[in-house]
Amino acid sequence: MKDTVILVVTGSVAAFKAAQLARRLMERGLLVKVAMTTAAERFITPLTFEALTGQPVLRAGFPQPGEAPMEHINFSRGARLVVIAPATANTMGKLAHGVADDSVLSMLLASGLPVMVAPAMNTQMYKHPAVQSNINTLAGRGVTFIGPSSGSLACGEEGEGKMEDAEVIAAAVMEKLGGEKDLAGVRLLVTTGGCQEPIDPVRYIGNRSSGKMGVAVAQVAAGRGAEVVLVAAHMETGLPEGMRVVRAHTAMEMQEAVRKEFAQCDILVMAAAVADYQVENPATGKVKKKNSMRLDLVETPDILAGVAMEKGGRVVVGFAAETEDHLASGRKKLMSKNLDLIVINDVSRGDIGFGSDYNEVTLLTRDGKKIEIARASKDMVAGEVLDQAATIWRDSRTVEQPEAS
Ligand code: PMT
Repeated sequence: MKDTVILVVTGSVAAFKAAQLARRLMERGLLVKVAMTTAAERFITPLTFEALTGQPVLRAGFPQPGEAPMEHINFSRGARLVVIAPATANTMGKLAHGVADDSVLSMLLASGLPVMVAPAMNTQMYKHPAVQSNINTLAGRGVTFIGPSSGSLACGEEGEGKMEDAEVIAAAVMEKLGGEKDLAGVRLLVTTGGCQEPIDPVRYIGNRSSGKMGVAVAQVAAGRGAEVVLVAAHMETGLPEGMRVVRAHTAMEMQEAVRKEFAQCDILVMAAAVADYQVENPATGKVKKKNSMRLDLVETPDILAGVAMEKGGRVVVGFAAETEDHLASGRKKLMSKNLDLIVINDVSRGDIGFGSDYNEVTLLTRDGKKIEIARASKDMVAGEVLDQAATIWRDSRTVEQPEAS
């Protein structure tokens, strides 16, 4: 039986490319069912998609008496995923806020399916804080973004906001469908976010981690079939669904959570920015304002080094947040903390690392492999990290057969 995907077309000039996308997906053996917003119908007709796909199109208006009243619920049943292409700022905003004021948006909320989004709009619209905030909300809920790319836009301006090519979107859909199972049976423990160490009940010492990197690792792993537990400190992004999440706000809480979960995992990926120091005696009441204040800090336990010393057959992956001597410092952490793999990133750059949707990293393995990953989305980086960690884990489990005599 063919896998079914739902293609949601919204009101953008790029809607014509959705017809190419439907073809590309069908060429890859998928059954494609199209849903169209009212605005999409101003650019391309439902008849075009019905003729292309051989399937009835879900239109935005609510059913009239006598028409199937539950089509917005039934339409997506049995499908594997939804891809919204082109996705306008309007539809992304509605989806981010749970608005279901037509049949297509109701179908999206009722589908329970993984969602992929290929945005298309003017550069300034795309960069608008409201649109970026909606994108972050959706990404935090596990929505996968494909593009947009840069180029000349329909409005005549140049810049980011061009819908990705149909071929690129189709390849991403296939990867999501096909690459899902290679981590099935692998138990992954991931930490993310920034620890906050209390000074008193209202103040803390913290860091700039948003949690995006660790969430990307957790989501990509879950998408590839792994059983994931996420230990999350302070987050500037949403908590993902489809996995068990344990909250841990301080280094001590994170140590307790990691130690508790470590025995049941095969791979630990420690992407959290753990505080290196905590206040020795946090005040129980709010400290009154005065001219100056002195804090006594004591070192926190090194969670990663602690569990890695007793790792047995588990694979332990650390991140190294560096601003200088990246490779040498990263290599030192790899060896001194007894890690199998370290992911080194430059946290002095504004376009990657802390808070960014992108990262650029160097991977070092214990057996001397060095892999450079050029600036890419945190999802892509997560995929590479998982590939390496899974290879080390599988290799360590391969029992060498004695040669036949
Ligand atoms: O969250 P984002 O905004 O997406 O940003 C991602 C990131 C920059 C936080 C992430 O990519 C990253 O680099 N995480 C590691 C941050 C860090 O604490 O690096 P470190 O070099 O100080 O520590 C090395 C390793 O030891 C890390 O895996 C850390 O989790 C671990 N550690 C550190 C201190 C400590 N007391 N216990 C630990 O386990």
